[in-house]
Amino acid sequence: MDKLCISGGKPLHGSINIGGMKNAALPIIFATILVNDVCVLENLPDVSDIAAALEIVKRMGAKVEKIDNTTYRIDTRSVHSNSVPLDLARVMRGSYYVLGAELGRFGRSYTAIPGGCNLGARPIDQHIKGFEALGAKVKCTADGVSCYTDGDLEGTSIYLDVASVGATCNIMMAAVMAKGMTVIDNAAREPHIVGLANFLISCGANISGAGTEVIKIRGVDMLYGGTYAIIPDMIEAGTYMIAAAATKGDLVINNVIPRHLEAVTAKLQEMGVTVEEGDDNVRVAYNGILKKCRVKTDFYPGFPTDMNSQFCVLLCLAEGQSKLTESVMDSRFKYTDELARMGARITVQGRDAYVDGVPALRAANVRAVDLRAGAAMVLAALAADGKTVIEDIHHIQRGYEDMVGKLRAVGADIRLIKDEQ
Ligand code: EPU
Repeated sequence: MDKLCISGGKPLHGSINIGGMKNAALPIIFATILVNDVCVLENLPDVSDIAAALEIVKRMGAKVEKIDNTTYRIDTRSVHSNSVPLDLARVMRGSYYVLGAELGRFGRSYTAIPGGCNLGARPIDQHIKGFEALGAKVKCTADGVSCYTDGDLEGTSIYLDVASVGATCNIMMAAVMAKGMTVIDNAAREPHIVGLANFLISCGANISGAGTEVIKIRGVDMLYGGTYAIIPDMIEAGTYMIAAAATKGDLVINNVIPRHLEAVTAKLQEMGVTVEEGDDNVRVAYNGILKKCRVKTDFYPGFPTDMNSQFCVLLCLAEGQSKLTESVMDSRFKYTDELARMGARITVQGRDAYVDGVPALRAANVRAVDLRAGAAMVLAALAADGKTVIEDIHHIQRGYEDMVGKLRAVGADIRLIKDEQ
């Protein structure tokens, strides 16, 4: 297995360009199945989850052509139903988007129970509730989920019990060519939802309200292809914002939508970090002692759960006791055992973590226990004096494009150690 070796303690200076957002790109890649035409997707991040999603649609019959590292042409006219490669679908969370896409186009779908990061129970009951409300029959077994309809899907009102990103995207996809109007109430408001809606609208869909808690979708007869650019990755950007503060550095993070970063910006400022917003960039600079702080993750526009572990690293370096509460995922704190190896003092009680600041973290051998936890280990290693080795970095490679190259360019001593076997 590949590893990362980081000699930390060096302030990072310079600028980092942010790539396209993995979690916005995934539903859009699967939504090309609905389009039944040729789509060109730009600004796709070069990460393994995106490669896996492209491979899934390819194995379903799509013609996938790489134009450059971040641009792909996807022709889904030859996709056939019931063709999901279950081995691949099983390993990634985002593969559940084939359900909404296939149901919307073919009236039936079967896929494996999705994998992804182990963040506690991650049910898909809200996806199923939405499909059933549209008139589909859904069957779940231990291995997979099948859904089908004998007639047309019919628009209806659906109230989500949880403002789930995945369920909102999946229902939007299933509803886009259903008969009549679908209303999703208590919809997720994350930028990825707006991204998917804008892509579908650019293909001829009739959707309004994306980004608010009520999304209205009036079914259309067909969609047509086009070119669409994926929005910048707010979690990648947030991670490098923390890198600037944790290493006592000064970074300009380019190609971002500052509005998407406001929850992270506000908490950094509360801790005494300088954050300056430009039109499409933010500058983050360490500004002396880090103050303790209370952080609670929430659905957008709240503080993102995908920034929980990275922000915890900064809280470890603050003066006094901070409190970090996870309110979106069941289990986000597995990484705290790894941070403890680096000298962090964190007590987890249910969904709360009490973080006692330490003067410095120390280098150690640690593991990436999931994607964002892996990013947190990188941040801790960059801040710590000495050489840290991080194992299981395939998790990090699922969602961070060229992390080694981007960090080296701003002064980090970070190396990828390739497994020779
Ligand atoms: N939930 C339900 N029922 C459902 C769906 C969700 O109870 O039918 C619950 C979940 O158990 C969780 C909460 O609702 O407690 C939020 O889940 P959501 O459906 O919003 O998350 P997701 O679609 O499974 C996506 C991202 C995650 C990110 C979350 C929250 C993708 C592929 N994954 O997951 O990203 O943490 O939204 O923003 O888009 C990551 O990138 O590291 C990552 C884990």
